[in-house]
Amino acid sequence: MKKLFALMAAALLVVTLAACGGSSVDIGIVLPTNEEPRWVQDETRFNELLEDSEYNVEILFSQGSTATERSNVESLVNQGIDVLIITAHDGTAAAAAVEFAKAEGVTVIAYDRLITDTDAVDYYVTFDSIAVGEAQAQYLVDNATGTGNPLYLYAGAATDNNAFLFFEGAWNVLQPKIADGTFYIVNSSEARDVEDSATLTRDQASDVIGQITTNWDFNTALNLASANLTAAGSDDKGEVFILAPNDGTARSIADTFADDPEVTNYFVTGQDAEQASIQYILDGKQSMTVFKDVRILVEDAINMAVDVLDGNTVTTTGSYNNGVIDVPALQTEVIVVEQNNVQAEIFDSGYYSEDDFE
Ligand code: BGC
Repeated sequence: MKKLFALMAAALLVVTLAACGGSSVDIGIVLPTNEEPRWVQDETRFNELLEDSEYNVEILFSQGSTATERSNVESLVNQGIDVLIITAHDGTAAAAAVEFAKAEGVTVIAYDRLITDTDAVDYYVTFDSIAVGEAQAQYLVDNATGTGNPLYLYAGAATDNNAFLFFEGAWNVLQPKIADGTFYIVNSSEARDVEDSATLTRDQASDVIGQITTNWDFNTALNLASANLTAAGSDDKGEVFILAPNDGTARSIADTFADDPEVTNYFVTGQDAEQASIQYILDGKQSMTVFKDVRILVEDAINMAVDVLDGNTVTTTGSYNNGVIDVPALQTEVIVVEQNNVQAEIFDSGYYSEDDFE
């Protein structure tokens, strides 16, 4: 009997130890939502890279909620993480969650979206988001001839610092072409009010983005595009130029413009190289996308996290001011993809398999 108890006690100890070991997470990853293909792509790439990792990693989604994001961070901190990799749903509201993690000794890496107005961000891993907006705008400029071309502007969510960077990049390239008459802005009085300014203040950009925001939401994008087309006159249609901030919203906006009988041709931008948008590009329904190779971002973030865990020096290449501090940053370049280089950039690079497309 005694022996049995001893055995049972030993077994219990093993189970308890296993539970402890099993639940201790080294790196916690928090992504904003799995309802957008972009972030599912990141999850997939993290999982691919971490398949053989010696580190324990857990990925949680915040489903577009700052409250869920906060409880995700708390749960990961309680599981013992040393490093948090986080894409904020709302870049300002997320400050509280990362301050909590930081106070618990966790190193915080902002992933793709900067977290603002806090000193609790250690590093930022990102694409060159100004270059994203510049590339979108340059595509529209390159395809416009003559003067008086109708331009429709759309932006991301005002709670996402990237929406400002994308728009800033686009404005850098579009503003001179509005000033010289190549384009005129159809759907934003706020943008027309500042069209003579080569650079916009945060408040000015905020007013414009407030009027043309898609909130990164497909339905909002569709409804806004539809309202814009209802308000526009026949002269504002024909061949049109559309700055759409990302692929999800681009597809909604493109479908809406395609449905308008008075729109004879449209050029529409995007970003993320989402699978559905690569198909749209092949079908001639979306003009371009800005390819942000998530494999590189994922690798940079994990290498950074492992450097922190191993006590090595972390490599950064610049910094971003978040309103309180300059956050050391590691930045990746972007690539413009249109019909003629889908093969080289997307298929030959192994990003997607050609077999998945029609
Ligand atoms: C990302 C984009 C994404 C958008 C909507 C931005 O912060 O940089 O890649 O399309 O959020 O989720």
